[in-house]
Amino acid sequence: RQRGIIRELRACAHRVERSRATTSLMPPQEVDAALASTLRASGVSASPEYLRNSAFHIPDYETYCEMYTRSLRDPTGFWLEMARNNFYWRDPNAITPDSVYRYNFDVRQGPIQVEWFFRAETNICYNALDRHVEQGLGNRVALYCEANDMDDMDTHRAITYAELLDMVKRIARVLRRQGVRRGDTVTIYMPMVPELPAAMLACARIGAVHNVVFGGFSAEALAGRLLDARSAVILSCDGIRRGPKRIELKATVDEAIEICQTRDPSFHVSCQLVLRRLGESMLPNLTMQAGRDVDLRVAMEEAVSGPDDAIEWMKAEDPLFLLYTSGSTGTPKGVLHTTGGYMVNAALTFKYSFNYQPGDVYFCTADCGWITGHSYVVYGPMLNAATQVLFEGVPTWPDPGRLWAIVDKYQVTHLYTAPTAIRSLKKAGDEYVKRYKRTSLKILATVGEPINPQVWEWYHQVVGDSRCNVVDTYWQTETGAHVVISPPVRGFQQKPGSAGVPFFGIRLAVLDDRGKEIPFVPGQESEGYLCIRDPWPSCLRTIFGAQARFENGYFKPFPGYYMTGDGCRRDGDGYIWITGRVDDVINVSGHRIGTAEVESALVRHPAVAEAAVVGMPHEIKGECIACFVILADGYTPSDTLRNELVQTCRKEIGAFAAPERIIWTPALPKTRSGKIMRRILRKISEQGRDLDRSVLGDLSTLADPSAVDAVIQSFLS
Ligand code: PRX
Repeated sequence: RQRGIIRELRACAHRVERSRATTSLMPPQEVDAALASTLRASGVSASPEYLRNSAFHIPDYETYCEMYTRSLRDPTGFWLEMARNNFYWRDPNAITPDSVYRYNFDVRQGPIQVEWFFRAETNICYNALDRHVEQGLGNRVALYCEANDMDDMDTHRAITYAELLDMVKRIARVLRRQGVRRGDTVTIYMPMVPELPAAMLACARIGAVHNVVFGGFSAEALAGRLLDARSAVILSCDGIRRGPKRIELKATVDEAIEICQTRDPSFHVSCQLVLRRLGESMLPNLTMQAGRDVDLRVAMEEAVSGPDDAIEWMKAEDPLFLLYTSGSTGTPKGVLHTTGGYMVNAALTFKYSFNYQPGDVYFCTADCGWITGHSYVVYGPMLNAATQVLFEGVPTWPDPGRLWAIVDKYQVTHLYTAPTAIRSLKKAGDEYVKRYKRTSLKILATVGEPINPQVWEWYHQVVGDSRCNVVDTYWQTETGAHVVISPPVRGFQQKPGSAGVPFFGIRLAVLDDRGKEIPFVPGQESEGYLCIRDPWPSCLRTIFGAQARFENGYFKPFPGYYMTGDGCRRDGDGYIWITGRVDDVINVSGHRIGTAEVESALVRHPAVAEAAVVGMPHEIKGECIACFVILADGYTPSDTLRNELVQTCRKEIGAFAAPERIIWTPALPKTRSGKIMRRILRKISEQGRDLDRSVLGDLSTLADPSAVDAVIQSFLS
């Protein structure tokens, strides 16, 4: 009996030990505190039906916490195992404990630098396609292509992994025949047709760096990116139908090339490969410039096979892609991601955040022109041999039931979209949702901006019939992959509106105004700047051609930390609630726009003497653009001028950057040193008529305090 009791006690002690060590998402030194907090966590449990009907990569939250804790305690061991076990490397033994990662996040110690798996070689395209085909998955559907128009039967097609590989090989041959070599940058300006992911993979296959520019950007914006990236080869498309609109992409590219030539005569675009999507019948007068423009499909048909098929084996730290994104100052910045670390993190976040299982059908509505399209349309899903829907259209065309029609048509299990889309579909009314069964859905995921709790509830209850798990994912172009998630596992309590808890390897830190880390204390809330203390594999490596800007923007504000640019609240259970950007970046329908970009577009118009731009709350878009404009002498406010300014922003940036409001004002609130106090403009735009002046804070530093009254009056008139 005594032996029995001792055994029992030992088992009990072991259980206690295990839970002390694991039930936490905090840095190891805070494990005990976190254990207490996790026990108190309150929220919505994963739906019982989802739990019953799913297989799991991670069985429960305790295991998730165990993996998380290990990823922080022993990052080398954790990532070495993850990298070796899930991917093909030329020589797996090149990933050794002393070459998993090295870094410097502290500007005081020298240049910022991050490297992962830096002795190993791989090819991400090989991992995303060839590997699966070689393992007998060639017949698995990679892409169900859903065209813009429901009756466009030619383009509704399923593409298997073997077919996609063939398409990629052909594009790769075409690129090589055009002289593209390892390290060259290729710009891609295409709609959501299969050739777009195929082009990205083709670049990766031959070691070229892809630079995808969202098809909604204007010629000016495209030109800026072409010039900055020094990209001489472009993959484009004649035009598309998107919703009810027809968009002629090649005309924009031609214009962009002309702009480049005037701005920098030494820059030369050698080749534009044009996909005929609208084709002869819809766009008969397409001009193709001899010697420069090439019909991509014809070239692909000719590129049946060739001696130029070799896969380029890349060092893990070789660049994979550039993706331009907006910052708080200056022109858009070319975020640079490299091969190995990005591959590992994009693939693993996809697997674990969404609990994707073979047979599931995944559908992400993001365009490949944004980071979500890179990591969670192309690389994440394909590295996991997933089957997904690629949608060329928009959720509201021909009516707001389109997404649910697609869900039923392909039996979609995972839907990944942005709160702005959910809000607009919610507004259209439940009847559009209820027309469709949606019984296949298991995971409803969201990204891009905080999701309002009411919208979360609608997504959960109406779209998912309360059967699905809602997965919020917080991350950025710069992080390359998810940073905070709501893991869809047993025992994790979802809290509507909170992004959740950190992903493996992410050592989050909440910093106060003085840059001091606020330690986590269970039961206590903290609020501050959201930062990351240690490197993670898919961290951006630099801003292309602007290392100083990279260091100043992300690492100078708080030495030793990566600064996300977001504010957050960490609740007493350790959950993260994103409170929004703390810099001059606005998030319009999940699109990131720098106020500086809009301001410099506006001041190009001769009527504008000065402009200050802020984000203003918007029911559907989350935020919209409000421009405070001082007119130049000789100009008077008018609707025509207002339209002209809106058009200027569309032309300089893109249609999605069209201001919602232009406010004519005689003055702007400035400090004595001439800096515009946007904080004041933000508060005025946020609160409008209900403005409580006390929220404007200390106005004593203003050069002319009466400017505030002038702005308020202008805003309300
Ligand atoms: O402010 C955060 C917001 O979007 C920003 C990143 O924008 P971008 O680089 O364009 O990438 C968008 C897709 C990852 C962040 O700094 N953001 C992104 N996801 C969320 C979010 N805010 C709250 N909750 C999210 N899930």
